[in-house]
Amino acid sequence: MADTKQVQAAVYRGDNGDRLSVETLGLAAPQHGEVRVAVRAAGVCGSDRHVLDGEWQVQLPAVMGHEAAGVVEAVGPGVRGLGIGDHVVIAWHQACQRCGECTSGKPWACTRAKSNDSLLPDGTTRWSEADGSAAFPYLATGAMAEAIVVPEFAAIKIDERVPFDVASLIGCSVGTGYGAVVNNARVVAGEAAVVVGAGGVGLSIISALRLAGATPIIAVDVSEAKLREARRAGATHAMMSGADLGERIAEATDGGADVAFEAIGRVQTMQQLPELIRPGGRAVFVGLPPEGQKVEIDGLLLAYDGKTIIGSNYGGLVPARDFPRVASAYLSGALPLDELISARVRLDDVNEAFDAMRRGERTRSVILFDA
Ligand SMILES: NC(=O)c1ccc[n+]([C@@H]2O[C@H](COP(=O)([O-])OP(=O)(O)OC[C@H]3O[C@@H](n4cnc5c(N)ncnc54)[C@H](O)[C@@H]3O)[C@@H](O)[C@H]2O)c1
Ligand SMILES: [Zn+2]
Ligand SMILES: [Zn+2]
Repeated sequence: MADTKQVQAAVYRGDNGDRLSVETLGLAAPQHGEVRVAVRAAGVCGSDRHVLDGEWQVQLPAVMGHEAAGVVEAVGPGVRGLGIGDHVVIAWHQACQRCGECTSGKPWACTRAKSNDSLLPDGTTRWSEADGSAAFPYLATGAMAEAIVVPEFAAIKIDERVPFDVASLIGCSVGTGYGAVVNNARVVAGEAAVVVGAGGVGLSIISALRLAGATPIIAVDVSEAKLREARRAGATHAMMSGADLGERIAEATDGGADVAFEAIGRVQTMQQLPELIRPGGRAVFVGLPPEGQKVEIDGLLLAYDGKTIIGSNYGGLVPARDFPRVASAYLSGALPLDELISARVRLDDVNEAFDAMRRGERTRSVILFDA
């Protein structure tokens, strides 16, 4: 079709191990209520890695990536709130906007969202291969591409002073971390907090905890380098993971934390989480385990101690409300986010960026695209 744009994208086909290939695909023009965004930065998130490592099944071929920021370069009919040139952060959880959950501030709970099926909310895709067959945007975004098409409501306009690399992270890791603290756990000043896993998401939780005034903030990881980053992000204590973690946390918090976050997606650490909190405390599952894996919990102790387990999907975010708040906190200096980025790479380096994540070497890698 004449109005289909040829776009370079990182594609996962599942036929070459965990490797992505950078290819040219067709991207159809934005339809009613949609915009095309020239991607300027796309973060490398643990959720993409779950897919590449065969832990989650998705529709293939998939354009990977879901953490992005860019500039609106085309608008479909009926778009009212955005114009060409606007700077936007992309929301990967694209809810229906009409159901009870969506209209009461819980879009993350919308049962009609199709993001997990790698489809736009109308159940279709704008991506196609040279032979006309469909390709799919991972998490309705497919952000590791020069351009993407999303509904207008999923492109949230933000202050142009926020650099694109930082802005991209607001779309997943930073938004998720902020939302897990503010929306899901509702942390208040003075609460003792633990964060298990100090990768892109865990460090974002730590910086949001600092913003919320939690103290102490205890970071846990298996990497000394990540623990150093955690201190930079605002952790007051840093500990190596281990079987006796519960005792060490109890000692540092006089009996257990008020709130603990798991930000890895490992069943063992998820299982350990309730042991890190005091009676009445909250354990928040942010990390996502491989499909089908079960977490075992002592039901008697959980009930007796009145502990709460909170599932956190996309940080309970309302993107149009929360992305600008995160951007304002960043611009005021209250939420330092530049430090979260440890590598800025090109699209062709995408496989190496995932390898570095598997080796636990980097905090966040961000893929940058030319204007
Ligand atoms: N709930 C949501 O909405 C949501 C959103 C985004 C990401 N996620 C999930 O969050 C998880 C983390 O993503 P990420 O991008 O931060 O990944 P990441 O790879 O950057 O971070 C994982 C961190 O865990 C550490 N780690 C590994 N094993 C450990 C252990 N045994 N004990 C302590 N630390 C350990 C690693 O060193 C690393 O620092 C993934 O499962 C991802 O899918 C969830
Ligand atoms: Zn809905
Ligand atoms: Zn993500």
